[in-house]
Amino acid sequence: MQLIIPSISNLPNAAKAIIEHAANSRIFLFYGDMGAGKTTLIKELCKGLGTTDTVTSPTFSIVNEYHTTKGKIYHFDFYRLKDQTEALDMGYEEYFYDGAYCFIEWPEKIPDLLPQHYSNINLKVLDDGARQIDIEII
Ligand SMILES: Nc1ncnc2c1ncn2[C@@H]1O[C@H](COP(=O)(O)OP(=O)(O)OP(=O)(O)O)[C@@H](O)[C@H]1O
Ligand SMILES: [Mg+2]
Repeated sequence: MQLIIPSISNLPNAAKAIIEHAANSRIFLFYGDMGAGKTTLIKELCKGLGTTDTVTSPTFSIVNEYHTTKGKIYHFDFYRLKDQTEALDMGYEEYFYDGAYCFIEWPEKIPDLLPQHYSNINLKVLDDGARQIDIEII
């Protein structure tokens, strides 16, 4: 599925469409350059899933945890990871295989630790500043 998001105001609807499209997915990998809009989209997805918690970039903590009536959401940012063993050390498996939603920024940093099934979300900034989002369920 591909979505074009002309501006931030279109994000809530896009988030709903993504959640519906990937209904059975729990692990979402977000690819895209710095500033492409990964965190911004994750904020909207979390809102769409009903959390009232504050969603912020977990750059320093690696993982944030939010709560919804449907269960937990784990939000990762692996940008600062130096080595995949850091993910092992933080116990990433307990998060990934918890059945909770996992939203993962910079999955490129853990190529050997990705689960078997996930949804790929690819964000691209177009020339006019709009965002192109490609979603592939694997
Ligand atoms: N769909 C959108 N349309 C227009 N602007 C957007 C959109 N999504 C995000 N932005 C803007 O782009 C900027 C960067 O967004 P964001 O922090 O979400 O990027 P990121 O991909 O998470 O970056 P990083 O790799 O540094 O974590 C923000 O100022 C945000 O307002
Ligand atoms: Mg981010």
